[in-house]
Amino acid sequence: MKKTIPLIVGNWKCNPVTEPQAAALVTTIVKTHKKAEAPYVVIAPTALHSAAVGRKLTSSPIMLAAQNVSSFAVGAHTGEQSAAQLKDGGVSVVIIGHSERRAAGETDAEVLAKLQAALAGKLIPIVCIGEKKRDTNGNFFTEVETQIRSFATELTPAQLKKVVIAYEPIWAIGTGETATADDVKEMQLFIESTLTKIHDRPTAQSVRLLYGGSVKPHNAAELHRVGGMGGFLVGGASLKAADFSAICKAVI
Ligand code: PGA
Repeated sequence: MKKTIPLIVGNWKCNPVTEPQAAALVTTIVKTHKKAEAPYVVIAPTALHSAAVGRKLTSSPIMLAAQNVSSFAVGAHTGEQSAAQLKDGGVSVVIIGHSERRAAGETDAEVLAKLQAALAGKLIPIVCIGEKKRDTNGNFFTEVETQIRSFATELTPAQLKKVVIAYEPIWAIGTGETATADDVKEMQLFIESTLTKIHDRPTAQSVRLLYGGSVKPHNAAELHRVGGMGGFLVGGASLKAADFSAICKAVI
């Protein structure tokens, strides 16, 4: 994927309820997005609906993602799905360390192990980071930096270049509250400078960053134009084909 072309990822989370609903939603999205790029589009359905959604994507440029991956390669790990199994099922991208999973107990160490498994399995990992709340003293920067260091220091520059980082402030997820476009820009610069300190500037600049948190058709254009990120991770609005398509159009 060329970094200059925005990437829009629809994270369906635990939606919709039935397979026909998932198939109908992806079918509508496929019809509205026929171009191979501008932007690149990725859909992350539930694991159960992955195969059905994947079948609808066979002759589409839209990529299939998973919402989680096991840190284990194979074997006796009940409930897990390995990177190789995802790849075999047509998945090419995986979301790792979403705040909803971190809230359920996923640690930085687990995020790193999953990230390494995804890289070894040749999946494109999207690692989610973001502060719980904003304070006026800027302590949230430390929170974000700690999350970045927990994985970026463990990767070589070549590995890091393959990682997508999604900045999703937790207070903005599903709440209708977004970071301002200026806040997003500030965070883009902060993440890049943190990665530069860990590795070097060319490496930092080659990492794609996404913003996520209540991205909607009405705010997508400004967040993209001012925010300086390489695209969006979209939750709620990705469940409405018209909204998702409007967000895709807003970044080109
Ligand atoms: P939201 O979710 O767009 O509904 O805020 C974003 C996400 O959790 O990825």
